[in-house]
Amino acid sequence: MSYDDYVIAGLDIGTTKVCAVIGRVGEYESIDILGVGSSPSKGLRKGVVVNIESTVHSVASAIEKAELMAGIEIKSVFAGIAGGHITSRNSKGVVAVSTRSHEITPAEVERVIGAAKAIALPMEREVIHVLPHEFVVDSQEGIKDPVGMTGVRLEAEVHIVTGAMASAQNIVKSVNRGGYAVNDIVFEPLASALATLKDDEKELGVVLVDIGGGTADILVYQNGSIRHTGVISMGGNHVTNDISIGLRIPNQRAEEIKRKWGIALSEITDSEEMIEIPSLGGRKPAVMPRQVLAEIIEPRMEEILFLVRENLESKDIKDTLSGGVVITGGASLLEGTGKLAERIFEMPVRIGIPSGIGGLVEEVSSPEYATSVGLVLYGLSMKPEGFTDNRDAGLFSNIKRRMVGLFDEFF
Ligand SMILES: Nc1ncnc2c1ncn2[C@@H]1O[C@H](COP(=O)(O)OP(=O)(O)OP(=O)(O)O)[C@@H](O)[C@H]1O
Ligand SMILES: [Mg+2]
Repeated sequence: MSYDDYVIAGLDIGTTKVCAVIGRVGEYESIDILGVGSSPSKGLRKGVVVNIESTVHSVASAIEKAELMAGIEIKSVFAGIAGGHITSRNSKGVVAVSTRSHEITPAEVERVIGAAKAIALPMEREVIHVLPHEFVVDSQEGIKDPVGMTGVRLEAEVHIVTGAMASAQNIVKSVNRGGYAVNDIVFEPLASALATLKDDEKELGVVLVDIGGGTADILVYQNGSIRHTGVISMGGNHVTNDISIGLRIPNQRAEEIKRKWGIALSEITDSEEMIEIPSLGGRKPAVMPRQVLAEIIEPRMEEILFLVRENLESKDIKDTLSGGVVITGGASLLEGTGKLAERIFEMPVRIGIPSGIGGLVEEVSSPEYATSVGLVLYGLSMKPEGFTDNRDAGLFSNIKRRMVGLFDEFF
């Protein structure tokens, strides 16, 4: 079934901003970006919704902005999930091929994935993703798609991502109360990876690090599939806090200064360069060397990147990543981040910007949009069965839509 013209929306509920991206499926299953909307996020801490009311406002505002730009009303989104509650592990499942001819059908694959997914989970946790690495048919290893092959024993190796049920429910609640349905919940770095990584990097082995405001999310590909995921509960907001404390200025000022003059590596800073720090209450602005700012920022960025490195080393995967490191997320906009990371990882590093899309590409060409663009691409990979078609959503009036949201919540 062709689904050209279908409309898919991604919603990244981040610690600092909520961002909605609307895309249309074009010819050859490409995505054209139609609209983008962003709104400051107030109801989250370290990637987790802690205040539904504030989150609902940010969600509604971001989606409405994107809808306005796209000239389309949507009714459902693929929403991101992140935070320290996310854990992951590898698992295996085995089944006997029960078809008469011993030919493996999609039903067999579904069954073996079901077996691999059957892990003991505490009541309050749920499985968010089951990501197959490879299949083994009898003793033949390294099979990506076993459908159509013949064998008696089918084994699946998968990576399972789990999260706190309450966190997922709070995301769904916030989106529903804004008047929208949720097609699926997606682990945020998985979305960012879809938007920024190239196929050859995934084959060679690559680590994606998405440094946002509250968390740094890690995702590792080896031989084309996801092998490891992790979350570090530290991000760009910690850098801002350090500046605020170090320079004794309010947080908002510190954020502005970081974006304007921030640099992650003091030794590439011109020692002569002076910057102006606006003072409060009409006093004269303070002038100081940019190097001082760099010396506040560098240790924190170093700490975040060291924690990522440690995480990789603890899993023994750091030495198998010939594709290097891709850093994305808003914090990667900080000058010198790539260079500092190269030193810490001792590997080539690049900054990941959404690619492989058409339409309003300029509007999303920043690491800040990697997750939201990736959520649309994730939606695309779900094929039409996995999402509500948004094309006719314009027929819904806002009131009716909001009622749908309420029904979703109560039933
Ligand atoms: N130009 C810039 N220079 C330096 N830092 C920046 C710049 N632009 C944004 N940031 C930082 O990026 C961070 C926000 O990144 P992003 O938008 O990816 O986070 P988020 O998705 O809201 O949060 P999270 O993923 O942690 O939930 C903030 O800490 C912000 O200060
Ligand atoms: Mg983010």
